[in-house]
This record gives sequence, structure tokens and C-alpha cells, in this order.
Amino acid sequence: MATTTFPKLSLEGAVGRPIVRRSGRAKVTGTAPFTAERNLPGLLHAVAVPSTIARGKILSIDTSAAEKMTGVRAVITPDNVPDFKRIPTFNESMQESCLASHVYPAAEREVYYAGQYVAAVVADTFEAARDGALAVKVEYDEMDHVTSIDEAPADERPKSLFGAPPVIEIGDAVSAFEQADVKVDVDFDLAMNHHNPIELHAALAHWDTWEGNESLTVYETTQSLSLSQKTYQSLFNLKPEQVRVICELVGGAFGSKGAMWPHSVLACFCAKVVAAPVKLVATRQQLFGGTGHRTPIKQRVAIGANSDGTIKAIIHEGTATTSENDSYAEAFTMATRMMYQTEALRLAQTQSRLHTQSPTFMRAPAETPGMFALETAIDELAVKLDLDPIELRVLNEPEKSLYEEKPFSGRHLVECLRKGAEAFHWKERPRKPRSTRDGDWLIGTGVAAATYPAIFFPTQARVTLRTDGTAHIDCCSQELGTGTVTTQCQLLASQLGISASRVSMNLGDTSLPPGGVSGGSATAASVGGAVRAAVDALKKKLVELAPSDSSLASARPDDVTFKDGKVLLGSDSWALEELMSGKFKDEIAAVGKFKGAKDSKTSNHSYGAQFVEVAVDEELGLVRVRRMLGCFACGTILNAKTGRSQFLGGMIMGVGHALQEKTVWDHRLGRITNDNIAEYHVPVNADIPDMEIMWIDEPDFNASPVGAKGIGEIGITGVAAAISNAIYHATGRRYRDLPITPEKIIL
Ligand code: MOS
Repeated sequence: MATTTFPKLSLEGAVGRPIVRRSGRAKVTGTAPFTAERNLPGLLHAVAVPSTIARGKILSIDTSAAEKMTGVRAVITPDNVPDFKRIPTFNESMQESCLASHVYPAAEREVYYAGQYVAAVVADTFEAARDGALAVKVEYDEMDHVTSIDEAPADERPKSLFGAPPVIEIGDAVSAFEQADVKVDVDFDLAMNHHNPIELHAALAHWDTWEGNESLTVYETTQSLSLSQKTYQSLFNLKPEQVRVICELVGGAFGSKGAMWPHSVLACFCAKVVAAPVKLVATRQQLFGGTGHRTPIKQRVAIGANSDGTIKAIIHEGTATTSENDSYAEAFTMATRMMYQTEALRLAQTQSRLHTQSPTFMRAPAETPGMFALETAIDELAVKLDLDPIELRVLNEPEKSLYEEKPFSGRHLVECLRKGAEAFHWKERPRKPRSTRDGDWLIGTGVAAATYPAIFFPTQARVTLRTDGTAHIDCCSQELGTGTVTTQCQLLASQLGISASRVSMNLGDTSLPPGGVSGGSATAASVGGAVRAAVDALKKKLVELAPSDSSLASARPDDVTFKDGKVLLGSDSWALEELMSGKFKDEIAAVGKFKGAKDSKTSNHSYGAQFVEVAVDEELGLVRVRRMLGCFACGTILNAKTGRSQFLGGMIMGVGHALQEKTVWDHRLGRITNDNIAEYHVPVNADIPDMEIMWIDEPDFNASPVGAKGIGEIGITGVAAAISNAIYHATGRRYRDLPITPEKIIL
């Protein structure tokens, strides 16, 4: 392409440096301000009462015992719940609400899932509230429920897959598949997963009266501050200036804090009833049901190819679940739209409705489950063709995105596969499965492709330049632990030609210029786009301020640059204070607005390659991951240290997805049985081997205003397929159901 969508930006200097994240010290010394630790004078505590049945009607709620208990201030039930408006959910109107579900806490007379908050108790202490909650007696008229994907009819099409239709057909894939020389047609079954961040979901709500007006302040654990503010406005009929939401740090989220869950609304209800600040911290058990999950999914992938390996047809279809009242749809076929060249393509999704909490985004929703199925099927095709799986992928590399009919903004998948293969010593691998042993262990290696879209959300940021040579960013974005503050300071420092240590940033507060959702790996580039726009606005302002006899006064703002606190135009330079004389004192600021990247001329995605070595003990059913290597192409990497951590974290979560993570249900009761992190397994240090991360550091200005495409999610994609492909290579047996737990391995 001749020109990029966004003008190129020089990223010399601070960008890319492995600078230590700013919140690191506060976190490891225990001084970092997390929501559950917030306090206000006169603070009361609330504990939710979850339903014990999965479906039915509430006949009565007996609060008399709880109300008599020492310290209990109020019991909130549908009888005294404050007024609120039922509003659209996140999935219905992403611009105006981030509410996860239509089921409201302490407000319904019906139960739609086990764990639904049917009431809450507010007390002086957490302990008194907990005891009070246990004393609330709820009588139900129980109705039949369905919580198993195997028992629910899958006869409904989702309305939309993050904006895409649920059925996509290019050519006649069914007959092209029938006529193909070589065929793979396989089914996959994936368990439900829960996110389990270390930080529990929490909200501290406080209603106040301010100049005769009501105001609401909420400290909460969220990936979407500005949207939370809008949601509260709509729920309680308030103006923007009446709602303030604060969240300085998030202690892990993985998508579970992207939407607003009932505990936040419940904290507001409680605070209103008792007219005092109220804190509600969901328990670990309440996370299972109180917040969302990754839906269980059944998938079929059928690929037909010529005997030389040219793919003729790809069919990817299946079913995910959603809840009775909501419309979250997991878009697991999406990535198959643009991964490989094919003449014919058919993608089709159905959904079934279960009596569960609404499913939600979980790290790389869509790509994580979808790429497991596609990339395992590709490996199976390579085996049938007796081709190296990397060569099969290279052979079917597309020139453009099939579905979008657009060139790629920057793909580099083949480079990732080649560079990764070299570093992993892929060449030394025997083609035949079950050919390497190490004592009792069978050894195998596997490869899979990774991908994630480049997503952006409208964001505003204010940049302030000070005469002392420092600079500052204000933006209502979120710090999820990814290093947002650190990397944005680096981005601004590069544009100003100063050290990143001279830049500071405030985020996490809706009193700052509005930011977007920190989901979809969108934060770095969206905030970066706003910071860049603010710098452009500052250049314009400085040109306007310039003395009329100076060359700056007639300059094009684009030609203005900065260095060490000075404003530069060609070989002329001005100190900031020279330009500000009279009009501004010590600083000058401008707000930049980034609109996102709608109507892009390119297909905007990141790509990568995952390599894994496993050891399998078939008698004990053990799978040990011995080596992992990921090579990614995500545009500019803003900070080599925090960037590496994001890739590592994603890949580690992929090990859990492949081998451990499974929400276990008792379907007779319609309840989750392993609602704790002793029995819901996630990887620990002993599960994680030597890992190597590498990347192709090439800015992508077709997709992104700052060349960076986001890295929080791509690291998990493809990992489960690389592991299952490695287990096949070790044992000669295919595993298509996740997680691959010991009982499946034992012969
Ligand atoms: Mo991510 S699952 O969009 O937080």
C-alpha cells in the first residue's frame, strides 16, 4: 500500500524500552489502592443473598430474624428495593450501557440461575452482614432447569457475533468439501471456564446531596469506567455530573470486569436504602454465578483439500450457550474468516439457552475457543497429507481477507512461523508421532497459529506541557495490570523528545476526559490515539501563540516537533515560556479525541505462532508442558518488558485452557460444584516451563494511530491447539475436548 491510514509517527526514544511498570512497587508492598480496600467515614458493609435454586419463583423472603441481629441496618428485597430503570444491556447497546444482564439484584420475583442475588443485608461490619445474609429465609416454588449444553436445544441463531452475522457463506462449501481429495471432519467439545482474577469483584457506593442535587460516587472493579458512569446515569436517571466512578487499579480481569455485574447495582441499591456509603465485595464463590463465564462450546471443523495441500473448503460451525434473558454470543467462528485461503467457506453458529448467569468476554473471546478447533483441524489435515504443518499453513496463506475483501493491514504470519520454528529447532522434529521417549515420558512438539483483531474504542485524553520540561496525561482509562500508565508515558515522551520519567498520567476516574473499554486489547492504541491527537492540538495552539514575526507563526502544525522541553521548527527553537508569555502561566494543555478506526481500508488483525513441547505419561495421565515459544506480530511493542509479560500471561492462561480449566456442574441441582480456586484449577509455577517470547517489531499505521495493535489477548490464542497437537505428536492420539485432563489421557 502506498499510504497508511494514519500518518506515520516517529517512535524514537522512550517507546519500546523495557521500563519497569509504575504501579509495581505499590503492588508488591501492599500500598496499591484496590477497590475492596477503599474506605469512607461511616462505611457500612453489604453481603448478597444468592438463590439456592436454578429456576423458579420466590414465594416469600423472611427477613425478620436477620433484621433483629446486632449490627444489621437493613435487608434489601424486592419489597423495598429503590426505584431504578430497566435498561438495555452491553450486548444490545454497547454505546450506552455496560450492564451484563437483564436480571436485577434484589429486584426480581423470579429466579433465572443459581447464585442470583435475591436479597442483601447491610450491617455495621462485614461479619454482621454475612451472618444476617445467612439468616434470610427464602421460600421458592422450584421449576425445571437446564444447565447442560448437552440437554438444551440449539435451534436459535445468535442475532450478531460482535457485529458480524451468525452465518457466513462464500461459495458452496458443503459440495466443495464433498468433492475434495483429502478431508478432515472433526468435532470439538470445550468446557465452561471462569476467569478467576486474584482481585475479587467489588463496589463501594455512596449517595450524597450536592447543591440540592443527588450525586452518586462508586469505587468499583471495572474495565469500563466511562461506560459504567453512563450505565448508572441511565439506571438512576442522573446527569453525567451527578455520577463519578473511580478505579485506579484492577487486580486482574480477563474480561470478567468488562461488563457491569449485579453486585455493583446492588451496592448502589443498598447505599440508597441506608443513606450511607456501602461496600459490597463478592466472595470467590459468588464469582461463579455472580459474574460471567466463557460458555461451553461444541464445534465442528471440516476442511477439504487437494492432494497437494491446497485448501478448497472450510466449514466451521457449532453451538455456544447464553442465558435465558440475555444475548451475549461467543463468536467462535470469527477467526476462520481470514486465516487461510479457500475457495469456499461456511461459518454457522447456533446457540442454546441455559439457566446460568450470562456468559461474557473471557481473554480473546471468539479466538481462544475458535482457534483451538481450527488449528487442531489444520494439524490433522497436515498429518493426512503427510506435510509439515508449517508448510501447509504457508501453502494456504491468503493474499487478502476473504470475508472482508480487504488487504491485510500487516500480517506477518509466515514470518512468525518461520522465526519461531528456527528458534524452537522445529526442523529437528521427527514427522512420525510417538517416536520420542524420555524414560516413562512420551515427548512431542506442536505448532499453531495465533490471531486477534486490532480493536479501538473512542477515547479522549488531555495532555499538559509544563515549563519545567515535564508533561502529564489525563484520561479516564483503566490500569488492568498491563502497564497502561507506563506505556502511555513512554508514547508521549517519544513525541516530546524527553525521558519517560518526566511524564506522569492520571487515569481511573470519570472526572477525567472519557476513555473507552479496556477490553479487546484496545487500550494501548486507543489511549495512544487520543494522546497523539492531544499533541497535535498542542502544536496548533503553540503556532497560534507564536510571536507574529517568528517563523513558527506561519508554520504548519505538523512540522512542529519537540525536544527536551523546547518547541522546534527546522533549526529554530523556542522555550515553552517564551511562547506562553502573558496568556498561560506554567503550563499549556489540550484535549485530543480519537474516534476509533471505523471504515478502515484494511483487514486489521495481529498474528503469531505458538510452539509447544510436551511430555506425556500415559499410565499416570500426566501432561507436562516442557517448552513454549511464542512469536507475535502486533505492530509496535510499546514496552519490551510489560509487552513480554502480556504475551507470557496469555500463553500461561492458554496452558490452563488446554489442560486444567473447567467449571464443573451438578446438573441435577443446576449449581457449580468447584466454585473455588482449590478445585477450579489454573496453572501455578510448577505447571509452567521455560518460555520464550519473540516478536516482529514493525509498526502498523494502517491499523493503528500509534502503530501498536494491542497484545493483551493474542497470547492465549492457538496455545490449546499447539498443546493438543503436541500431545498427538507425543502419543499418536487426538484430543479434541478441553480441558485435556488426566482421565482422558489414561489408556
Ligand atoms: Mo478482554 S476478554 O476483551 O477483557
